[in-house]
Amino acid sequence: MKNFLDLGLQPLANSYVLKKNLKQKEKKFKLVLGYDPKNYLVSIVNTVPKEKMFNKNYPYKSSESKTMRGSFLKLAQKIKKNFNPDFIIEIGCNDGVFLKNFNSNKIIGIEPCVNLANIIKKKGYKVFSEYWDLKLAKKVTKKAKADLIYSANTLSHIKDYSKIFNSIKFSLSNNGILILEDPSLLECLKSVAYDQFYCEHIYVFSTISLSKILKKFDLEIFDIEKIKTHGGSNRYFIKNKNNLTYKIKKSVKLEINREMRYGLNKYSTYKRFANKVLKSKKKLIQIFNKIKNKNIIGYGATAKSCTVLNFCKINNSNISFFYDTTSFKLNKYIPGTKIKILKYKKLNRKIADFVFLGAWNFKDEIFQKEKKFIKEGGKFITHIPTPRII
Ligand code: TYD
Repeated sequence: MKNFLDLGLQPLANSYVLKKNLKQKEKKFKLVLGYDPKNYLVSIVNTVPKEKMFNKNYPYKSSESKTMRGSFLKLAQKIKKNFNPDFIIEIGCNDGVFLKNFNSNKIIGIEPCVNLANIIKKKGYKVFSEYWDLKLAKKVTKKAKADLIYSANTLSHIKDYSKIFNSIKFSLSNNGILILEDPSLLECLKSVAYDQFYCEHIYVFSTISLSKILKKFDLEIFDIEKIKTHGGSNRYFIKNKNNLTYKIKKSVKLEINREMRYGLNKYSTYKRFANKVLKSKKKLIQIFNKIKNKNIIGYGATAKSCTVLNFCKINNSNISFFYDTTSFKLNKYIPGTKIKILKYKKLNRKIADFVFLGAWNFKDEIFQKEKKFIKEGGKFITHIPTPRII
């Protein structure tokens, strides 16, 4: 492993702080990024035990966003049409935003965060509030192996990917399809989105790294869809190597070529990225200094913004508060910043002059929603792809 970027001491991104604990010292860890040239894999170097992150207090709900709801619905329709599976396993089903598009006798969910699992169970779905491993895989496939396994924005959170793929391989029927979806490393590097890295995002995968891993399990990618979620993700369609029903589509070679051209197989590319990140930090701080006396708030208290704010040392002296639609986050504070999160209200110029776009990955959805504020001359601050005022 060759390290290439130090994002400093960071608190746990989704551990929103209660007012009564504001004076307490927060647990922090060193957020350092590394590149493993053997399998082209980029990861955070120091990891946090999973139980500290994914538990009954996990605040992130996929169904909060229209963009995500739409994306999952479209995929569900495509799956029904193209693969018509009888038995689906979803690993990391969050609050059921994908799962609910299927009949409850066709799909089961795996979700270790009990608060989220309970939401789906109430709707009549079978959900296991456990971490995905071989033991659980054996339990849920006792009667039949899965025709389709789906996992979005989950595998990048799990440190021991060998165990995960081993259990997936075990659970998948011979002609079964595995669909994985995660932020794309290429898009992350291109847009200098260093905030894709935080305690939960252990890996940001590329096609070339994922292919290397899959090969060890006799699995292979046969199609890739580039999707807009989470700032640019890849949706990988994967099959057993000996399953000849599906031909490998051009999209796979195209994406591999794009990644190789960009240099995802070279350490120097990551050093270059690190330099861009340092410049980005300097510029964002300059912007905040320039508008110091203005009324500045934040929008979307994402895990990603936790990395940016802590790395750039932006706190409650720069940003008055954040708006967020997630009820669990309300009246809590963004880790490491003392910035309070308030219940979302439609923006107007009385509320703010400048709004820092924490949820930059939902820029289109948010700009659409806040047309009035923009028309009134309200401005947004974003750090993606370079810090600027819009
Ligand atoms: P997201 O960027 O999906 O994830 P992460 O935390 O992994 O970086 O989180 C989006 C957050 O933004 C979530 O807390 C909900 C909030 N949000 C709003 O408050 N308003 C909106 O209009 C949208 C789209 C999101």
